[in-house]
Amino acid sequence: MSSKQRIGVLGCGVLGQFLIDNMLKEDSLEVIFLWDIDQARLKELSTKYPNILLLESLENLQQLGPDLIVEVAHPDVTRNYGFQILEICDYLMGSPSALADEQLYEKLSSATTQHSLYIPSGAFWGGEDIRKMADLKTLEKLKVTMTFHPASLKLVAGDVRDKNDKVTNERTILYDGPVRCVCKQAPNNVNTMAAAAIAGHNLGFDGVLGCLISDPNLDDRHIVEIEVWGKPDVSTGGQFHVRTVRSNPALFGQVTGTATLPAFFGSLLGARGKKPGIHLC
Ligand SMILES: NC(=O)c1ccc[n+]([C@@H]2O[C@H](COP(=O)([O-])OP(=O)(O)OC[C@H]3O[C@@H](n4cnc5c(N)ncnc54)[C@H](O)[C@@H]3O)[C@@H](O)[C@H]2O)c1
Repeated sequence: MSSKQRIGVLGCGVLGQFLIDNMLKEDSLEVIFLWDIDQARLKELSTKYPNILLLESLENLQQLGPDLIVEVAHPDVTRNYGFQILEICDYLMGSPSALADEQLYEKLSSATTQHSLYIPSGAFWGGEDIRKMADLKTLEKLKVTMTFHPASLKLVAGDVRDKNDKVTNERTILYDGPVRCVCKQAPNNVNTMAAAAIAGHNLGFDGVLGCLISDPNLDDRHIVEIEVWGKPDVSTGGQFHVRTVRSNPALFGQVTGTATLPAFFGSLLGARGKKPGIHLC
């Protein structure tokens, strides 16, 4: 790796531009290219970022010599390009809900022979502690409950969306079950649950539980509650338990809480220097 970490960014929306603006202030980082499916948006950004290459396609990425590519666009980007990116450089995957697709997960895992797949902890508080418990197989149960205003939920067609469409003034549970299924129905909202499934890898996407709640009274924040249980202690019979509640200020109707932006940037700064594999950062 050259002294500056050479970074490409896929997706130039709210999060992408926040990251670019902050990377440009860091001496150790160089933003070498940007790409977005919305080429009109990209053209508008040529004035804001005159010294960064704007790509029309993701062909020939290797020639650009990136050290790290950051996806902050859509889970489809990983489906379409994740494997080829990992053959070239490290990959920070901002939309890890895509990993609920078992075949994609296997394919990307098999691609991490030379480079690393980094999963940002984002709004997932305590991820490192939970990962350590998973490594030691002392993690018995993990549940992530996320509550949003109905207008902040960007859902794909299915049961969860149908229930959300019917919410009027009552707080409503849209989904309560394994994280794998909700990742497919609410891919933009539950990246934190996907990060939990990666951290709690002894339980994984089928064992980690996710609960998604729509609350019409919650118009200025999102709530993320994480509950962790350890294996019962053989000598005392007691059980380790931690519950955290993150109150994440958010603009009305937005998917991403404001505190998640700097948290994600912190993850980006941590996405380097690990041996090949999948890492939470
Ligand atoms: N892991 C986390 O903690 C975390 C936190 C916030 C956002 N996210 C995820 O990051 C992504 C971006 O979030 P945002 O708040 O910036 O959203 P945004 O809607 O503001 O921006 C998304 C950008 O990506 C582009 N885009 C959409 N689909 C694309 C595709 N298939 N290929 C290429 N570009 C595409 C859009 O044109 C837009 O410019 C979302 O998937 C979101 O779920 C993850």
